[in-house]
Amino acid sequence: MKKRIAVLAGDGIGPEIMKEGLKVLGTIAKHFNHTFTYKEALVGGCAYDKYGHPLPDETKEICNNSDAIYFGAVGGSKWENLPPELTPERGALLPLRGMYHLFANLRPAIIFGPLADSASLKSERLEGGLDVLIVRELTGGIYFGRNKVKSLTLHEGAVQGNYAVDYMIYSVPEIERIAAVACDAAMKRSKKLTSVDKANVLESSKLWRKVVTDYVQTRFPQIQLNHLYVDNAAMQLATNPKQFDVIVTENMFGDILSDLASAITGSIGMLPSASLSKTGFGLFEPIHGSAPDIAGQNKANPLAQILSGAMMLKYAFGLNAESKAIEQAIMKVLEDGYRTGDLANKATQKEKILSTSQMGDKVVEYLST
Ligand code: IPM
Ligand code: MG
Repeated sequence: MKKRIAVLAGDGIGPEIMKEGLKVLGTIAKHFNHTFTYKEALVGGCAYDKYGHPLPDETKEICNNSDAIYFGAVGGSKWENLPPELTPERGALLPLRGMYHLFANLRPAIIFGPLADSASLKSERLEGGLDVLIVRELTGGIYFGRNKVKSLTLHEGAVQGNYAVDYMIYSVPEIERIAAVACDAAMKRSKKLTSVDKANVLESSKLWRKVVTDYVQTRFPQIQLNHLYVDNAAMQLATNPKQFDVIVTENMFGDILSDLASAITGSIGMLPSASLSKTGFGLFEPIHGSAPDIAGQNKANPLAQILSGAMMLKYAFGLNAESKAIEQAIMKVLEDGYRTGDLANKATQKEKILSTSQMGDKVVEYLST
């Protein structure tokens, strides 16, 4: 198989972990006889520094001519006070999600067995592991309200005088299409779906709940659907995460709950994501940020980046065996006690602590045996 991959490493730890992700993809290509061609492009703060814009035309061009986007992380305090449309987040990451219509964000929160000890919950609450899939709506809600407000001409401008405003807007088709993705996932798993909203307060959530309920009832009556308010969902995730299988939720709630889910699985350095459009085109990125505090020290955990590569193989290219091979190699690396610092269990101190590049090398080594 021949595939073109746009490589957008970004800022902070982005380049370090991306290097490891590419090592692993290179190994897969060799073993399974695929040809992946990589085109690197600047995105985020580093692109702003060089071109004066966090998402330069050169980068868009490379993305337009690729089969998938492999993304690291963007942002950092250096660029925080730029005008909003020039910040890495609002000037690059959100526009990328928006312009390729990447509305379906899949965030699997899986506990790799050997990590049960580094998870933040008592291990009896995680007995038998954890495998939750968060399906986060990614191109609507409060993150994108201002674009819609402009087109709906509800109000003019988002900031006036002493006020700052954000709009949480959802349309029926937007909710239906993410419900469809969640139902599809639930049908392949245990047919259990939890929809998270704040319908006791928000109008957009009331609509969300109604549309999800109707969608499931008419199209997938075999799915067992329940609804939770987001505050309760956070509490339930922290106290009894094993009750969940697939969770579907709007953009901001998904952002918050996925960080929480990552803490439950051991470290935010472990959670990958796939952001997909209707056509299957996608952007694949770890859920964590650019961690400027540890950038350049070769100690960041590259596993979420590597696992995002595995998601790319599976969801963008349909390479299931290749994707599985990466997950299994990681499982074995962890079983043998190898950890990056974030995963270290201070109580036992039995693990072998690896640097970013050593962890990438270990995954490659285990892929090759
Ligand atoms: C995420 C991140 C982004 C988000 C930021 C960097 C804009 O937190 O992907 O979870 O809020 O979506
Ligand atoms: Mg986030």
